[in-house]
Amino acid sequence: MNKPKVDFDDYTDNYNSLLRESTGFFAESEAYFAKYKVDILRREVPATTKRLLEYGCGIGRNIPFLRAAFPEATIAGSDISVASLEIARKENPGVEFILEQADTNVAEPYEVIFIAGVFHHIPVKERACVMKALYQRLIPGGTIVIFEHNPFNPVTRKIVNDCPYDKDAVLLRPSELKTLLVDARLPVHRSAYCLFVPPSLSVLLPLESKLGWLPLGGQYWVTAVRD
Ligand SMILES: C[S@@+](CC[C@H](N)C(=O)[O-])C[C@H]1O[C@@H](n2cnc3c(N)ncnc32)[C@H](O)[C@@H]1O
Repeated sequence: MNKPKVDFDDYTDNYNSLLRESTGFFAESEAYFAKYKVDILRREVPATTKRLLEYGCGIGRNIPFLRAAFPEATIAGSDISVASLEIARKENPGVEFILEQADTNVAEPYEVIFIAGVFHHIPVKERACVMKALYQRLIPGGTIVIFEHNPFNPVTRKIVNDCPYDKDAVLLRPSELKTLLVDARLPVHRSAYCLFVPPSLSVLLPLESKLGWLPLGGQYWVTAVRD
Protein backbone atom coordinates (compact mmCIF):
# COMPACT_ATOMS: atom_id res chain seq x y z
CA MET A 1 0.00 0.00 0.00
CA ASN A 2 1.51 3.35 -1.04
CA LYS A 3 0.19 6.77 0.00
CA PRO A 4 1.47 10.15 -1.28
CA LYS A 5 4.67 10.92 0.65
CA VAL A 6 4.52 13.65 3.29
CA ASP A 7 7.22 16.31 2.92
CA PHE A 8 8.38 17.28 6.40
CA ASP A 9 9.69 20.56 4.92
CA ASP A 10 6.03 21.65 5.16
CA TYR A 11 5.82 20.95 8.90
CA THR A 12 8.97 22.48 10.36
CA ASP A 13 7.10 25.54 11.72
CA ASN A 14 4.54 23.55 13.66
CA TYR A 15 6.09 20.10 14.14
CA ASN A 16 6.42 20.48 17.91
CA SER A 17 2.99 22.06 18.38
CA LEU A 18 1.27 19.31 16.35
CA LEU A 19 3.12 16.73 18.41
CA ARG A 20 2.09 18.48 21.62
CA GLU A 21 -1.53 18.63 20.44
CA SER A 22 -1.72 14.91 19.71
CA THR A 23 0.26 13.59 22.68
CA GLY A 24 -0.42 16.26 25.35
CA PHE A 25 -2.96 13.96 27.05
CA PHE A 26 -0.05 11.60 27.87
CA ALA A 27 2.86 13.97 28.59
CA GLU A 28 2.76 17.77 28.75
CA SER A 29 6.13 18.27 27.14
CA GLU A 30 7.12 16.66 23.85
CA ALA A 31 10.68 16.54 25.23
CA TYR A 32 9.48 13.74 27.52
CA PHE A 33 9.27 11.35 24.54
CA ALA A 34 12.75 12.26 23.29
CA LYS A 35 14.38 11.66 26.67
CA TYR A 36 12.36 8.48 27.25
CA LYS A 37 13.62 6.92 24.00
CA VAL A 38 17.21 8.01 24.52
CA ASP A 39 17.13 6.51 28.04
CA ILE A 40 16.15 3.14 26.51
CA LEU A 41 18.81 3.51 23.81
CA ARG A 42 21.36 4.24 26.53
CA ARG A 43 20.52 0.91 28.19
CA GLU A 44 20.78 -0.98 24.89
CA VAL A 45 24.21 0.20 23.72
CA PRO A 46 27.58 0.84 25.39
CA ALA A 47 28.03 4.21 27.11
CA THR A 48 31.45 4.37 25.47
CA THR A 49 29.96 4.55 21.96
CA LYS A 50 32.13 6.81 19.82
CA ARG A 51 30.09 7.21 16.62
CA LEU A 52 26.31 7.44 16.60
CA LEU A 53 23.85 8.34 13.83
CA GLU A 54 20.25 9.37 14.31
CA TYR A 55 18.69 8.42 10.96
CA GLY A 56 15.59 10.53 10.21
CA CYS A 57 16.41 13.06 12.93
CA GLY A 58 13.87 15.65 11.70
CA ILE A 59 14.32 19.02 13.41
CA GLY A 60 16.78 17.42 15.84
CA ARG A 61 14.56 17.05 18.91
CA ASN A 62 16.44 13.98 20.14
CA ILE A 63 19.94 15.32 19.54
CA PRO A 64 20.47 17.22 22.86
CA PHE A 65 19.45 14.09 24.77
CA LEU A 66 21.77 11.93 22.66
CA ARG A 67 24.64 14.33 23.35
CA ALA A 68 23.97 14.22 27.08
CA ALA A 69 23.67 10.41 27.14
CA PHE A 70 26.75 9.74 24.99
CA PRO A 71 29.27 12.43 25.95
CA GLU A 72 32.15 10.54 24.30
CA ALA A 73 30.39 10.11 20.97
CA THR A 74 30.54 12.02 17.74
CA ILE A 75 26.87 12.35 16.94
CA ALA A 76 25.39 12.87 13.49
CA GLY A 77 21.81 13.35 12.37
CA SER A 78 20.41 12.70 8.91
CA ASP A 79 17.11 13.26 7.14
CA ILE A 80 15.56 13.72 3.71
CA SER A 81 13.96 17.04 4.75
CA VAL A 82 16.19 20.03 3.94
CA ALA A 83 14.12 22.47 6.03
CA SER A 84 14.13 20.14 9.06
CA LEU A 85 17.91 19.83 8.86
CA GLU A 86 18.27 23.63 8.74
CA ILE A 87 16.50 23.88 12.10
CA ALA A 88 18.41 20.93 13.53
CA ARG A 89 21.72 22.61 12.54
CA LYS A 90 20.75 25.95 14.06
CA GLU A 91 19.72 24.38 17.36
CA ASN A 92 22.60 21.92 17.65
CA PRO A 93 25.84 23.65 16.73
CA GLY A 94 28.79 21.30 16.45
CA VAL A 95 26.67 18.34 15.31
CA GLU A 96 27.03 17.04 11.75
CA PHE A 97 23.75 16.88 9.81
CA ILE A 98 23.54 14.90 6.58
CA LEU A 99 20.96 15.18 3.82
CA GLU A 100 19.84 11.67 2.84
CA GLN A 101 19.80 11.25 -0.93
CA ALA A 102 19.83 8.25 -3.25
CA ASP A 103 23.62 8.47 -3.49
CA THR A 104 24.41 9.31 0.16
CA ASN A 105 27.90 8.02 0.75
CA VAL A 106 28.81 5.57 3.51
CA ALA A 107 31.93 7.44 4.56
CA GLU A 108 32.81 5.99 7.96
CA PRO A 109 30.34 3.49 9.43
CA TYR A 110 28.69 3.98 12.83
CA GLU A 111 28.74 1.93 16.01
CA VAL A 112 25.13 2.82 16.75
CA ILE A 113 22.19 3.87 14.59
CA PHE A 114 19.10 5.21 16.37
CA ILE A 115 15.81 5.65 14.49
CA ALA A 116 12.57 6.99 15.96
CA GLY A 117 9.26 7.21 14.13
CA VAL A 118 10.71 7.07 10.62
CA PHE A 119 9.96 3.66 9.11
CA HIS A 120 6.18 4.20 9.01
CA HIS A 121 6.85 7.15 6.67
CA ILE A 122 9.01 5.13 4.28
CA PRO A 123 6.96 3.67 1.41
CA VAL A 124 6.44 -0.05 2.04
CA LYS A 125 8.24 -1.05 -1.18
CA GLU A 126 11.36 0.93 -0.20
CA ARG A 127 11.75 -0.32 3.37
CA ALA A 128 13.85 -3.41 2.63
CA CYS A 129 16.24 -1.36 0.53
CA VAL A 130 16.57 1.32 3.25
CA MET A 131 17.28 -1.36 5.88
CA LYS A 132 20.01 -2.89 3.70
CA ALA A 133 21.60 0.54 3.29
CA LEU A 134 21.50 0.97 7.09
CA TYR A 135 23.31 -2.36 7.46
CA GLN A 136 26.11 -0.91 5.29
CA ARG A 137 26.39 2.07 7.61
CA LEU A 138 27.01 -0.04 10.72
CA ILE A 139 30.37 -1.45 11.75
CA PRO A 140 30.44 -5.25 12.35
CA GLY A 141 29.10 -5.66 15.88
CA GLY A 142 27.31 -2.30 15.61
CA THR A 143 23.81 -1.88 17.03
CA ILE A 144 20.64 -0.46 15.50
CA VAL A 145 17.74 0.55 17.75
CA ILE A 146 14.43 1.39 16.10
CA PHE A 147 11.32 2.87 17.74
CA GLU A 148 7.96 2.63 16.01
CA HIS A 149 4.30 3.35 16.71
CA ASN A 150 2.42 0.32 18.00
CA PRO A 151 -0.35 -0.54 15.52
CA PHE A 152 -2.06 -2.76 18.15
CA ASN A 153 -2.77 0.24 20.36
CA PRO A 154 -6.07 1.91 19.32
CA VAL A 155 -5.07 5.27 20.84
CA THR A 156 -1.85 5.29 18.80
CA ARG A 157 -3.83 4.47 15.66
CA LYS A 158 -6.23 7.35 16.37
CA ILE A 159 -3.35 9.80 16.93
CA VAL A 160 -1.76 8.74 13.64
CA ASN A 161 -5.09 8.97 11.76
CA ASP A 162 -5.66 12.52 13.04
CA CYS A 163 -2.13 13.88 12.57
CA PRO A 164 -1.56 15.89 9.35
CA TYR A 165 2.06 14.81 8.96
CA ASP A 166 1.09 11.15 9.35
CA LYS A 167 -1.03 11.18 6.17
CA ASP A 168 1.50 8.85 4.52
CA ALA A 169 1.90 6.59 7.56
CA VAL A 170 1.66 2.83 7.10
CA LEU A 171 2.31 1.39 10.55
CA LEU A 172 4.46 -1.73 10.94
CA ARG A 173 3.83 -4.55 13.34
CA PRO A 174 6.91 -5.55 15.39
CA SER A 175 7.06 -8.81 13.39
CA GLU A 176 7.30 -6.80 10.14
CA LEU A 177 10.10 -4.62 11.47
CA LYS A 178 11.95 -7.69 12.74
CA THR A 179 11.64 -9.39 9.33
CA LEU A 180 13.09 -6.28 7.65
CA LEU A 181 16.02 -6.36 10.09
CA VAL A 182 16.71 -10.08 9.77
CA ASP A 183 16.46 -9.94 5.96
CA ALA A 184 19.09 -7.18 6.03
CA ARG A 185 21.41 -9.45 8.06
CA LEU A 186 20.71 -7.62 11.30
CA PRO A 187 19.76 -10.31 13.85
CA VAL A 188 17.30 -9.12 16.47
CA HIS A 189 18.59 -9.13 20.06
CA ARG A 190 15.76 -7.61 22.06
CA SER A 191 12.43 -5.83 21.67
CA ALA A 192 9.68 -4.49 23.89
CA TYR A 193 6.50 -2.47 23.87
CA CYS A 194 6.84 0.83 25.72
CA LEU A 195 5.10 4.07 26.70
CA PHE A 196 2.38 2.56 28.88
CA VAL A 197 2.40 4.95 31.83
CA PRO A 198 2.14 8.75 31.59
CA PRO A 199 4.81 10.64 33.57
CA SER A 200 2.09 12.16 35.79
CA LEU A 201 1.64 8.67 37.29
CA SER A 202 5.30 8.60 38.26
CA VAL A 203 4.66 6.08 41.03
CA LEU A 204 3.69 3.54 38.33
CA LEU A 205 6.63 4.26 36.02
CA PRO A 206 8.73 1.31 37.31
CA LEU A 207 6.01 -0.93 35.80
CA GLU A 208 7.10 0.12 32.29
CA SER A 209 10.05 -2.25 32.23
CA LYS A 210 7.87 -5.18 33.36
CA LEU A 211 5.20 -4.67 30.68
CA GLY A 212 7.41 -4.94 27.59
CA TRP A 213 5.67 -8.16 26.50
CA LEU A 214 2.20 -6.56 26.49
CA PRO A 215 1.19 -5.29 23.03
CA LEU A 216 -0.61 -2.26 24.45
CA GLY A 217 2.19 0.29 24.80
CA GLY A 218 1.96 3.41 22.67
CA GLN A 219 5.15 2.41 20.86
CA TYR A 220 7.67 -0.43 20.66
CA TRP A 221 11.39 -0.73 20.05
CA VAL A 222 13.65 -3.35 18.50
CA THR A 223 17.41 -3.74 18.91
CA ALA A 224 19.47 -5.64 16.33
CA VAL A 225 23.22 -6.19 16.13
CA ARG A 226 25.21 -6.59 12.92
CA ASP A 227 27.19 -9.87 12.88
C1 LIG B 1 7.89 11.79 12.62
S1 LIG B 1 9.41 12.50 12.11
C2 LIG B 1 10.50 11.93 13.38
C3 LIG B 1 11.70 12.82 13.55
C4 LIG B 1 12.63 12.43 14.68
N1 LIG B 1 13.14 11.08 14.53
C5 LIG B 1 11.95 12.58 16.02
O1 LIG B 1 11.86 11.59 16.77
O2 LIG B 1 11.56 13.70 16.34
C6 LIG B 1 9.87 11.48 10.74
C7 LIG B 1 11.12 11.97 10.01
O3 LIG B 1 11.54 10.95 9.09
C8 LIG B 1 12.05 11.59 7.95
N2 LIG B 1 12.09 10.61 6.86
C9 LIG B 1 11.07 10.09 6.15
N3 LIG B 1 11.53 9.20 5.24
C10 LIG B 1 12.88 9.16 5.40
C11 LIG B 1 13.93 8.42 4.79
N4 LIG B 1 13.69 7.57 3.78
N5 LIG B 1 15.19 8.62 5.20
C12 LIG B 1 15.46 9.49 6.21
N6 LIG B 1 14.51 10.21 6.84
C13 LIG B 1 13.23 10.04 6.44
C14 LIG B 1 11.10 12.75 7.73
O4 LIG B 1 11.63 13.74 6.86
C15 LIG B 1 10.90 13.23 9.15
O5 LIG B 1 11.83 14.21 9.52
